[in-house]
Amino acid sequence: MKRVTVGICGLGTVGAGTLALLQRNAADIADRAGCQIEIGRLGVRGDRPDVETGTIPVSRDVMAVADDPEIDILVELIGGTDTALALVRRALANGKHVVTANKALIAEFGNELFHSAAEAGVSLSYEAAVAGGIPVIKALREGLSANRIQWLAGIINGTGNFILTEMRDRGRDFAEVLAEAQALGYAEADPTFDVEGIDAAHKLVILAAIAFGMPLQFDKVYTEGITGIETVDVGYAEQLGYRIKHLGIARRTEQGIELRVHPTLIPAKRLLANVNGVKNAVLVEGDAVGPTLYYGAGAGAEPTASAVVADVIDLARNLARGQGSAVPMLGVQPEAIESRPILPMEDVRTAWYLRMTAEDKPGVLSDVASICSRAGVSIEALIQKEPAEGQTRVPVIILTNRTREGELNRVAREIEALDSIEGQITRIRVEALDG
Ligand SMILES: NC(=O)c1ccc[n+]([C@@H]2O[C@H](COP(=O)([O-])OP(=O)(O)OC[C@H]3O[C@@H](n4cnc5c(N)ncnc54)[C@H](OP(=O)(O)O)[C@@H]3O)[C@@H](O)[C@H]2O)c1
Repeated sequence: MKRVTVGICGLGTVGAGTLALLQRNAADIADRAGCQIEIGRLGVRGDRPDVETGTIPVSRDVMAVADDPEIDILVELIGGTDTALALVRRALANGKHVVTANKALIAEFGNELFHSAAEAGVSLSYEAAVAGGIPVIKALREGLSANRIQWLAGIINGTGNFILTEMRDRGRDFAEVLAEAQALGYAEADPTFDVEGIDAAHKLVILAAIAFGMPLQFDKVYTEGITGIETVDVGYAEQLGYRIKHLGIARRTEQGIELRVHPTLIPAKRLLANVNGVKNAVLVEGDAVGPTLYYGAGAGAEPTASAVVADVIDLARNLARGQGSAVPMLGVQPEAIESRPILPMEDVRTAWYLRMTAEDKPGVLSDVASICSRAGVSIEALIQKEPAEGQTRVPVIILTNRTREGELNRVAREIEALDSIEGQITRIRVEALDG
């Protein structure tokens, strides 16, 4: 049986999971790949006495893996865009296939790296970079390749989803749940990438590039985190029949592509609204197939290793047959990848959840309603609470119809300028996800 040799760089959570999975399922993997997959070298920085490496050669300098002539496939599991970028560039230049789980690397440097891979006649595979173990890249690139993708929406950051789920289920506030997520190892010590939506934006850019056949454009994604979500809003959303989820949304419109990550109210009855805890899910609407949903573990050692090893097997099959991959790296032939205009947020149309604090006196609601109506914004639902004992101000919650964002911003400013409205309006976008 032919032999394909893999080098693994980075022996952290995913690296150790990948090594363990390749070893444990070696016989099944060989049957599927049509060749023996051998681990030829590991590139590690520090000691990992808890990881069984046996007789596999270990290098302290990861570049030694990229330069090792025995290695056919380099697996980059270091993370970040410093050493990882230099390593992947070197491996591709040396004619090695590369598998990575690194969404930041693909989202920010993918255009260059895919080009380099194509020039070198090798592949750069990245299934694990989006939604961990869920094979959504394969689904988009291959299973849905007959469709014109209209839009996709995903819960693609487990930490953020864990926080929002806990806020809803237990009425806990953001800071408290974040601290627990860190203690449980879901959130990084610096959770900015998760809670500010940067990690989700990295993944969304990759999904959108495949779905719409366009270059990766990380700097064009509108990104809003969940740090401003308050427990009261989670509760009011529930009363209105909605859940708040941190979604990455990419949509094709006649004016351009929408690329946005933000907290979103979605109807509680949608499957996506019931994706809880650290789980991920991506909903894709294709013109032929309609909606399809991909659900599962978006992170963790072996779920992520599952996607990494699947990429290794794909490459090993090709190597065993002496052929390159027939599937283009972004799902579209490189010469057919086309830049498309990205729709500015002020032209994006969504419905809105608005929460304001109003004086409890006659006429306030009619002032708010007439500002909305003059702007053509219709009020679909409204909650007005009785004032608490001794209070003269009340929360007012409004759900609007779909409105251009620029117009909604103008309406919100006009309402905020009313003497009877205190402070700023809390605004959260609403998506029906039904077409
Ligand atoms: N964890 C997940 O669930 C998950 C899911 C999907 C995708 N990913 C992606 O997978 C990649 C790895 O994530 P991870 O969670 O496994 O990270 P991790 O646990 O922090 O592991 C990273 C490993 O890389 C090593 N490393 C860092 N810089 C290095 C260098 N210059 N030379 C050699 N080794 C170096 C680290 O060594 P030290 O121990 O010495 O620092 C560590 O062992 C990232 O791109 C991440 O975004 C992770």
